[in-house]
Amino acid sequence: MKDQLKVTIVGGGSTWTPGILNAFVRHKDKLPLKKLVLFDNNLERQEPVGRYAEILFREQYEGVEVVYTNDKDEAYLDTDFIMVQIRTGGYPLREKDEKIPLQFGVIGQETCGPGGFAYGIRSLKDMIEMIRDIRERNKDAWVLNYTNPAAIVAYGLQRVFPNDDRILNICDQPINLLNSFAKLLDMDPDELEPKYFGLNHFGWFTNLYDQEGKDHLPRLKELIKGKGFLPADAEQRDQSWLDTYALVQDMVNDFDEYVPSTYLQYYIYPEYKAAHLNPDYTRANEVMDGREKRVFSECRRAYENNSVEGIQVVQNEAHGDMIISIAEAIYRNENRYYIVMVENNGIIENLPDDAVVEVTCLLGNRGPKPFHFGPVSTFYKGLLENQYAYERLTCEAFFEGSYTKALQALTLNRTVTDAKKARRILDALIEANKGYWPELK
Ligand code: NAD
Ligand code: G6P
Ligand code: MN
Repeated sequence: MKDQLKVTIVGGGSTWTPGILNAFVRHKDKLPLKKLVLFDNNLERQEPVGRYAEILFREQYEGVEVVYTNDKDEAYLDTDFIMVQIRTGGYPLREKDEKIPLQFGVIGQETCGPGGFAYGIRSLKDMIEMIRDIRERNKDAWVLNYTNPAAIVAYGLQRVFPNDDRILNICDQPINLLNSFAKLLDMDPDELEPKYFGLNHFGWFTNLYDQEGKDHLPRLKELIKGKGFLPADAEQRDQSWLDTYALVQDMVNDFDEYVPSTYLQYYIYPEYKAAHLNPDYTRANEVMDGREKRVFSECRRAYENNSVEGIQVVQNEAHGDMIISIAEAIYRNENRYYIVMVENNGIIENLPDDAVVEVTCLLGNRGPKPFHFGPVSTFYKGLLENQYAYERLTCEAFFEGSYTKALQALTLNRTVTDAKKARRILDALIEANKGYWPELK
């Protein structure tokens, strides 16, 4: 085990980066750094975060060299961990992803439905190029990718880099949910061992074992039915997230077997959701008016004060802690439970081998070791096969420049279903994504 690490954050100007920086400081004993690089293709956006990083490390984490750059050699050579969180097209395109489908009465969401489809095709191009840039310079670095829509990015990367076993695609929602379950159960999330299956943003918790082997999922379902459901960090959440968590109660009432990811509501209640989203003010607007403004103004305040004392760059620390603890689990070979994305290969017996599934794994220095799950029953298999086909066709539309596959993908998506509507949405998205998408013929 190396004494000290070089870590790079790609998407250094991300609104989530300051939270990750704070988490590095909290975890310095377990994940010791010698160098931290922020890399972004938009230097102007990254600069305030880079300056915040310099001050934070100077005050709270001495001896770490901090660099912010757009130089690929600086970012990727001799680096141990590369954490990736980019947003191709930025929030202005996220806003279009969300608003265009809503014009047709269809859900507009960052990662689900036509919005996630549009974002997926944009992300694939940049992510594939980035992994090539990284591997030209560094064969060994762990790439910890959070870039959304993670399901499509993960499937596409697996198709292009099938033998690369140091790319790990991860989402924080399973951990957010576990923290929220633990709060409702009045337990410590670290004592819960989850059993979970699905695709990213499309999965279910089937069991929640404590250290004695007792399953707390039955009790959790009753609590959700009786009291409703809130995120663990409810006081820091915008209203739209509270609404999203609240609908978990409806899903548990309707399908009592498991506890679903919040994201399943877009597929299970597409009409209700589409009717309750505001087509003029979507989550992208909420984020641009809230988190984005706050993060950058707090970074600026830090360098005007030349101190991070009293600066509030993050609303909650869970996201940064998760990202650092994943790197820690690999670096220290901790073999801790994480729910991450892996190639199926029989884990869920009755799903295709090449599906990228999200399941419980033990995470150590050879990567994730998934637990076998077994077959899933008809309702879940139907939903999963449908979503898998949509994700796969989206990637193939991108690889082959195929309009037909794009239309098939959108038609299959449970938020759309009607091919005439799918075509109108697709044509509008093609127009909006000029310069970001390959030509679809
Ligand atoms: P953001 O726009 O604030 O940050 C993205 C940054 O990436 C920007 O600074 C941008 O300039 C940079 N960038 C874009 N394309 C790039 C490229 N090709 N190379 C280098 N840098 C590039 O967005 P955000 O809201 O902070 O989110 C960042 C990403 O993290 C998104 O993909 C988001 O969906 C994802 N995310 C994932 C999870 C998860 O659980 N998996 C959680 C939170 C955020
Ligand atoms: C959760 C999901 C992420 C998603 C994020 C969106 O954490 O797991 O995949 O990007 O929420 O959050 P936002 O605040 O940008 O809407
Ligand atoms: Mn996610």
